[in-house]
Amino acid sequence: MPSPLLLLLLLLSVAANAATFKEAPQFYNSPDCPSIADDLEDPDENDQHLCFNRAVHVAMTLDTAYIRGSMAAVLSVLQHSSCPQNVIFHFVYSASANSSFLRTTLSHSFPYLKFQLYPFDDEAVSRLISTSIRSALDCPLNYARSYLANLLPTCVARVVYLDSDLILVDDIAKLSAHPLGADSVLAAPEYCNANFTAYFTPSFWSNPSLSLTFANRKACYFNTGVMVIDLDRWRAGDYTTKIEEWMELQKRMRIYELGSLPPFLLVFGGRIAPVEHRWNQHGLGGDNIRGLCRDLHPGPVSLLHWSGKGKPWARLDANRPCPLDALWVPYDLLETPFSIDS
Ligand SMILES: *[C@@H]1O[C@H](CO)[C@@H](O)[C@H](O)[C@H]1NC(C)=O
Ligand SMILES: *[C@@H]1O[C@H](CO)[C@@H](O)[C@H](O)[C@H]1NC(C)=O
Repeated sequence: MPSPLLLLLLLLSVAANAATFKEAPQFYNSPDCPSIADDLEDPDENDQHLCFNRAVHVAMTLDTAYIRGSMAAVLSVLQHSSCPQNVIFHFVYSASANSSFLRTTLSHSFPYLKFQLYPFDDEAVSRLISTSIRSALDCPLNYARSYLANLLPTCVARVVYLDSDLILVDDIAKLSAHPLGADSVLAAPEYCNANFTAYFTPSFWSNPSLSLTFANRKACYFNTGVMVIDLDRWRAGDYTTKIEEWMELQKRMRIYELGSLPPFLLVFGGRIAPVEHRWNQHGLGGDNIRGLCRDLHPGPVSLLHWSGKGKPWARLDANRPCPLDALWVPYDLLETPFSIDS
């Protein structure tokens, strides 16, 4: 008969390999929420609920490495939403991933979630990612945000894109309803104090035909982890192609250092609708300096974003959390080994 210690070790290793997530509570609309079901003239024409226009549409990526973060993000969205039953999630996953695992995991924790999974052809985008910058951080799924207009059904006119390393502490409907003005395609917080020059190489700035891209534009840095996207305008302007053209150029001559961000700056910098900074308190991952704990930026907070190298779940597991990681913990749905079947 195996010793109790051996059994415990076995249990721990099983739990570590097959991460299981707890079931989240069900969240209900408040009485004054719009009914999203009245939208469709003929509900049978569209599958499910994907085309409800009065719904809040949210797009995220989903992969096994970040799924713990994604689950926490989803929970935070629902928990702070006044109309949680009107939120529809669109998850993009790598076509080579196990979609049945992703679907099972989501449905188990969120049995009432309205969602759709979209396979993303990583191979196609891999060819566009310049090898010199490809790293763990530059997995092809990072570029999925540039393809949402093609991936999501055309009936979805507006979507909020969210990274997986963040939590909301405010109603996502407010962010989703942010005005886009007469012609902006994107809304996101802008940071005009950041040194914009640093995002591009000297060879970019010294080439007039390239640096003229920013002539007559008051381009500022923005973080692409939180964006409200007008998909109709995106499709009409074929912005995916414009982003791809910059990626093609980057393959031929190095014009920037980072991965998926600079093409967004090139295409949209100075043309976005600025959102209050409270909607992206970014850098909580310690920017790109390992081990650094960052504080909040001054001002109110609607969304906490652990962008940078450090992720709260990894620091918590390593027993070296930063003080603000405590704010992420209430949204963690991962079962601890000792709470199995509890
Ligand atoms: C995919 O995930 C399902 C559900 O978790 C699992 O039963 C199946 O064995 C997985 N398939 C592969 C090829 O890993
Ligand atoms: C901005 O960045 C560029 C390139 O990295 C650098 O040369 C310049 O000194 C920086 N400017 C400021 C004000 O820090």
